[in-house]
Amino acid sequence: MKTTPGTDKPWGGRFTEKTAPATETFSASIDFDKRLYRYDIAGSKAHAKMLAKIGLLSPAELELILSGLSEIETEIESNVFVFRTELEDIHMNIEKALVEKVGEAGEKLHTARSRNDQVALDMRLYLREVCQDIIARLSELQKGFVTLARQYLGVCMPGYTHLQRAQPVLLSHHLLAYYEMFSRDKARLSDCLKRVNVLPLGSGALAGTSLPIDREFVARELGFDAISANSMDAVSDRDFMVEFLAACSLIQIHLSRLSEELVLWSSQEFDFVEIADRFCTGSSIMPQKKNPDIPELVRGKSGRVVGNLMALLTLLKGLTLTYNRDLQEDKESVFDTVDTVTQSLAVMIELLPGLSFKREVLEQAAEKGFMTATDLAEYLVRRNIPFRQAHGIVGRTVAYCIAKGKELTDLTLEELQEFSAGIAEDVFGVLAIAGSVNSRTAQGGTANTSVLKALEQAETDLGL
Ligand code: ARG
Repeated sequence: MKTTPGTDKPWGGRFTEKTAPATETFSASIDFDKRLYRYDIAGSKAHAKMLAKIGLLSPAELELILSGLSEIETEIESNVFVFRTELEDIHMNIEKALVEKVGEAGEKLHTARSRNDQVALDMRLYLREVCQDIIARLSELQKGFVTLARQYLGVCMPGYTHLQRAQPVLLSHHLLAYYEMFSRDKARLSDCLKRVNVLPLGSGALAGTSLPIDREFVARELGFDAISANSMDAVSDRDFMVEFLAACSLIQIHLSRLSEELVLWSSQEFDFVEIADRFCTGSSIMPQKKNPDIPELVRGKSGRVVGNLMALLTLLKGLTLTYNRDLQEDKESVFDTVDTVTQSLAVMIELLPGLSFKREVLEQAAEKGFMTATDLAEYLVRRNIPFRQAHGIVGRTVAYCIAKGKELTDLTLEELQEFSAGIAEDVFGVLAIAGSVNSRTAQGGTANTSVLKALEQAETDLGL
């Protein structure tokens, strides 16, 4: 039998030279893809069982492979496994270790399989778990919002457009807006999971295999809902990762908007909320400082999460079918997004119960800025004045208030009647903040009754 000259690689048969060290270091992915070891081993075990089922492995060989893979898993978990750069990636590191342990049986494991379908399998198994984990974290975060919304039920605050005071709202209504964003984020991940949970193994390098494999069996073993329909697509498709990175980008953007509000609201200028000391840091020079670093960092990290999405899209843009080594570059984007989003969610889940909203400041702020001007216009509409005219009347009333340094609620009935004779004593109920808030009873509005309904629905949905 001819032996391989000059190289010790599993693929070395046709080579006459040893790989250059520069090639090895530049092309190795083991430093980052070793985190896929559990999925790689689970996939190999299912594949081996299938090979035994169709008679390509004897029961004894299967036993050797399964126990060898379990040993390798334990070694990796107890940090004694030596990862080798010259073996490129997690797939070849594990396969080589298996062959060293169990000999020829190990050399049969890669039958009817390529690293191209293997790496697609590993990433799908990995992302399936990650999606479920992030969905669970999002539910925890939502519980935080629901708890705060319940705690502060009835507290009014200014609602803003253009960051200018617009209309009074309930703080709980504002908090539940975030509940809604994170509900949609969970739905997006659940939807992404449908495309993730498809078995690519059995596609071989790109064209399938001539061996009589049983893909249904492997799908059942690994809990996949479906089997990829086209081997060329299966080894080159990274749509599911793009979808995942896009869903995560929205999560991080939602966290970033929340962070921006916390930074603003905890400033002396707003003074709406106190963030617990344990989530803040001080200044090395200014002794009085207490800074909202956690929300700032969560906000800052949105850049890398969006960047990772752009990186993957750009990576895919010019790739011909099917597998190209470029695709190895998909992993670090995905891993970095997983780490960033997971950690951001974890810290925000802890931070929410550490928020103390300042009821008096919020309610006083809601009293200022002619916040019930729209209510006054709608009051006039109910008195049969066309809305455009009502808008003009109230606009002039506000101008008068600004000139006099008064709020709408400071005006006497006589002053108000100067602007419209239709105004009567009952106008003061409309101008009051609580009256304004509680008049917004339409579904999705900020009235106490509507918010309570939304809150109860949220509590039911979260199983609280
Ligand atoms: N490390 C590779 C990757 O992440 C695995 C697949 C390699 N396939 C190949 N034919 N070189 O994409």
